[in-house]
Amino acid sequence: QEDLFKNVVSHAKEYGFIFPSSEVYDGLSAVYDYAQNGVELKKNIREYWWKSMVQMNENIVGLDAAILMHPTTWKASGHVDAFNDPLIDNKDSKKRYRADVLVEDHAEKINLKAKKEIEKAKARFGDAFNEEEFITTNARVVEYLAKEKEIRERLGRSLGNGDLEDVKALIEELEIADPETGSRNWTDVKQFNLMFGTKLGASAESAMDLYLRPETAQGIFVNFANVQKSGRMKVPFGIAQTGKAFRNEIVARQFIFRMREFEQMEMQFFVRPGEEMQWYEHWKTTRLNWHLSLGLGKENYRFHDHEKLAHYANAAADIEFNFPFGFKELEGIHSRTDFDLKAHEKFSGRKLQYFDSELNENYVPYVVETSVGLDRMFLAVFATSLQEETLEDGSTRTVLKLPAVLAPTKAAVLPLIKRDGLPEISKKIIEDLKWDFNVAYDEKDAVGRRYRRQDALGTPFCITVDHQTIEDETVTIRHRDTMKQDRVKIAELRAIIENEVSM
Ligand code: GAP
Repeated sequence: QEDLFKNVVSHAKEYGFIFPSSEVYDGLSAVYDYAQNGVELKKNIREYWWKSMVQMNENIVGLDAAILMHPTTWKASGHVDAFNDPLIDNKDSKKRYRADVLVEDHAEKINLKAKKEIEKAKARFGDAFNEEEFITTNARVVEYLAKEKEIRERLGRSLGNGDLEDVKALIEELEIADPETGSRNWTDVKQFNLMFGTKLGASAESAMDLYLRPETAQGIFVNFANVQKSGRMKVPFGIAQTGKAFRNEIVARQFIFRMREFEQMEMQFFVRPGEEMQWYEHWKTTRLNWHLSLGLGKENYRFHDHEKLAHYANAAADIEFNFPFGFKELEGIHSRTDFDLKAHEKFSGRKLQYFDSELNENYVPYVVETSVGLDRMFLAVFATSLQEETLEDGSTRTVLKLPAVLAPTKAAVLPLIKRDGLPEISKKIIEDLKWDFNVAYDEKDAVGRRYRRQDALGTPFCITVDHQTIEDETVTIRHRDTMKQDRVKIAELRAIIENEVSM
């Protein structure tokens, strides 16, 4: 698994998807840049989300609020007082960790032990193996899973009650050591606010303390009444937004999983009080189906219902994804009650209510939120798509089996050789296709090597122009996943590509 993760990081760099930020200065920890192919993949994921939310739902509209917001926003939202992570320092190594992450990783390790037992039994019993029965009857597996559950529950309780001493006790009881040095010499667990501060205004006296937004959601809440009135929106309705968010995270090396500057895709759905649970269930199902529609494999997703709730929520669940380092949160679905709108009413002195003409009643709507990290989506898609295949002739190929709809480049046009007019025909094909798709041109190296390069970039189609093209206006079109080649008319190319890559 560690190797797989290393491959993901190095492939992302080698093929122009993701670079460390300001790498000439040795990078900036937990900050990354999206390169020529990464920016396309990221844009396509964002568009795939946006279409499913805004274009496909007539009662959901978009918004692009500013990153900088009035500082009282963060007082009202609770982020100034409660947006903390429990930190612990290792006295020997001087390294700092999130205490809850250390415990969670420990729980995950126990889960892996259970999984190993299950895999072993599966291999031993073959078709006769009944996993459900095994999990409930095998003593060792039962013990591992119970231990894992107990640790998670206790951690949730301690954090929920703000009992940091108990988190510390848990770390000691479980004999958790510094993941890098093995030392167990910890300091107390402390709360650490995750918001980045900055200043507005030039003169020292009048400058105002601001924060870079730690979530995009608050830009939606403070615009609730503006959008509702100007758009004549009727409850239930939603506001969707994508944009940067910033958190001063204490990070383990998890690449783009936990970043200090990242992008969220959030949707706040405003509903009648009392109807929030039915909408919460609706959005849980709808969002899972959206993920499944990408075809990365049903087994890679699971729900995790929260026992420990954030200060604003009355129900919350994560959609977890099987990342190269195990199942981790990909998206959160939260029933946020009327906490945020009420808080902004209180701090601003403005009414943030809705007149429901059917009920003939004014109320502050309840909110169900869906919130997914764009960078985490990128990692999920990229890591799962990256595959090493052994071919029939025994050779191997690296192929990035991205969902075609998300691929940065939809087709590469390759003249078989660099003369006899083949490059000119290739460029004419590109001139024609580029109005609809991102298409690339490549004439370097033998055609086999060019195919492999496009496989590694995730390009679904390679179109090869050869001497027969001059005679009959046909080309070969090669499919990335099957490597099958068909001879087709140039005039058919657009429809063939469209059929695969459209949403
Ligand atoms: N408005 C609710 C909210 O922000 P969250 O669970 O803190 O909830 C939502 O964040 C999603 O944003 C997460 O599920 C994750 O995908 C993404 N996310 C959060 N922190 C992140 C980070 N440091 N780096 C990358 N993605 C992050």
